[in-house]
Amino acid sequence: MKLKDVKVAVLTISDRGSRGEREDTSGPEIKRIVEAEGAQVISYQVIPDEQYLIEERLVRLADFKDAELILTTGGTGFSPRDVTPEATLAVIERHASGFVEAIRHASLKITPHAMLSRAVSGIRGQTLIINLPGSPKAVRESLQVILPALPHGLQILKGTAGECASHSHPSHLH
Ligand code: MTE
Repeated sequence: MKLKDVKVAVLTISDRGSRGEREDTSGPEIKRIVEAEGAQVISYQVIPDEQYLIEERLVRLADFKDAELILTTGGTGFSPRDVTPEATLAVIERHASGFVEAIRHASLKITPHAMLSRAVSGIRGQTLIINLPGSPKAVRESLQVILPALPHGLQILKGTAGECASHSHPSHLH
């Protein structure tokens, strides 16, 4: 199990979802996938597309709830209300763009609409924050891409990883 005992927070960002006008299916999809990998989902919330609210939740989850990984879904597109990347950039201390770069790269092979996600990923303290687009399909496709690199990244962040070489993915050994 790739995420055994990792503390994950799931944050769905959707105006209609937060008002109960649309059922959130992306957040539960993230929860299902990471739990199947052994993660412990410590928080799942649905909040509106308000930058100050998103920032406040991210800070609380990272600094006070000790989430090791925060996965957001939604609010990464071009709509004027889409502010998830701006909120994330306001609270991260270090960029960790590899995750969103890998997601966009892989997703472009599935849909050109992958270009329309402005998702970002970065680090606040010992917490990794990754934006995912706002559909269950996009969530599945994105998580599939980043799952292989997440455990080692999270271990390094916590300071519990050994040598990088010993963690090389078998498919990268020639
Ligand atoms: N990425 C993947 N892998 N699969 C998808 O279906 N949908 C795209 C894109 N990224 C998609 C994807 C679409 S249609 C949009 S508009 C953007 O993500 C932004 O979505 P969001 O505003 O819900 O975050």
